[in-house]
Amino acid sequence: MDDRLARFSQSISFDHRLYRHDIRGSIAHARMLEKQKLLTKDEFASIERELLSIGEMLDRGEMPFKIELEDIHMHIEQTLIDRIGDAGRKLHTARSRNDQIATDLRLWVRDQLDRVAELLVELQKAFLSRCERDATVAIPAYTHLQRAQPVLAPHYWLAYIEKLERDRTRVVDCRKRTNVSPLGGAAVAGTSMPIDRHFTAKELGFEDVARNSIDISSDRDFAVESAFVLTMIAEHLSGWAEEWILWSTTEFSFIRLPQKFCTGSSIMPQKVNPDTLELTRGKSARVIGALQTLLVLIKGLPLAYNRDLQEDKPPLFDAFDTVTAMLEIAIPIVAESELDVASIRSRLDQGFLDATALMEACMLRGLPQRTAHHRVGALVALAKEKRVRLIDLSDADLQSVDPTLDATIREVLSVDGAINAYQSFGSSNPNQVASQVAYWKSVLKY
Ligand code: ARG
Repeated sequence: MDDRLARFSQSISFDHRLYRHDIRGSIAHARMLEKQKLLTKDEFASIERELLSIGEMLDRGEMPFKIELEDIHMHIEQTLIDRIGDAGRKLHTARSRNDQIATDLRLWVRDQLDRVAELLVELQKAFLSRCERDATVAIPAYTHLQRAQPVLAPHYWLAYIEKLERDRTRVVDCRKRTNVSPLGGAAVAGTSMPIDRHFTAKELGFEDVARNSIDISSDRDFAVESAFVLTMIAEHLSGWAEEWILWSTTEFSFIRLPQKFCTGSSIMPQKVNPDTLELTRGKSARVIGALQTLLVLIKGLPLAYNRDLQEDKPPLFDAFDTVTAMLEIAIPIVAESELDVASIRSRLDQGFLDATALMEACMLRGLPQRTAHHRVGALVALAKEKRVRLIDLSDADLQSVDPTLDATIREVLSVDGAINAYQSFGSSNPNQVASQVAYWKSVLKY
């Protein structure tokens, strides 16, 4: 082989990460070969012993990687053959690297998905831990990044818990389709050797056995799907990061991020920069990029295995590494940041957050929505002109716009009045919020 091809085609520089899963897959395969009398007891015993020892060698970082040996499968197999000769040469019976890499990658993705699911739950718990701490804090909710209506801060935290729950269930679904055994599909058509694919599947904890040997070696749906699942998590974290970057500005002054997750400026001594959140937002780009890469990679591939598929690993590894790191750092930031309650409260009266509550109160008294909307609009204009809050308008002011308005309408005015007036399921009514917090406490066993 030309040196240039060896360098061009090697994957050991990145697929060495799969060594634990490769060894696990090989031991399961060898055990099956022994059961099927394709290996003797002694051959299996020495294969298993040496594979475990090669695994320890790799744990210690002591295996020299050589590009001539191309990938992790050949490195491990060659080392085995160097150590035990012909028994090692039998390991690859009824197996191809095509089903071997598919097996390794599914086992690896399965582990990674489990880790991501754990981290999602930890992040949900971090948001839930804030719900008690911030239970009575009222905060503006925004649409179009304009002040809209008042909500309780926990209502925000519950919104993120919901997004993360959808992410978690996507991980669980994706795991099901990942957890199917390709092993024994061999190169493309199956094998004439009397293997037992159900046995290896069970050994490796796969829930099912892939049925079609042609499909098996070409299928990377689980890789693309997991990249999509990761992309949605990255999108959610990026939106959250953007929100808290805004909230931590002097202009908002809603939140103080933990100092240890902020950085300074080399030239402006006063600066405390939210780099962690900026990087969270920024790193989402590479996860989206990984999904794109995988989609383009498999587009137009004829059946079955094609070497193009080797290129699935760098983007897939990077997407998992990136999202795992994003989650790991989001957890302490969510748990440890402090709302600047005084600053939030000092400006809660700005923006007529209670206007919708006033309109709905008029509707409950019988006004059609369009009419109520129009009249409250007029009251907001009047309050703006007088530079007062809606609640400060006199009875005469109120009645100048709507003669039926009396002092009792003030119940729904002010931020607290508006929050207490909410009634619907899923709203920011304090009882609704409390019952949702209780729901998540029981779901998350928190
Ligand atoms: N390194 C290859 C990959 O990642 C392993 C499979 C190689 N198969 C082959 N027939 N050359 O896809």
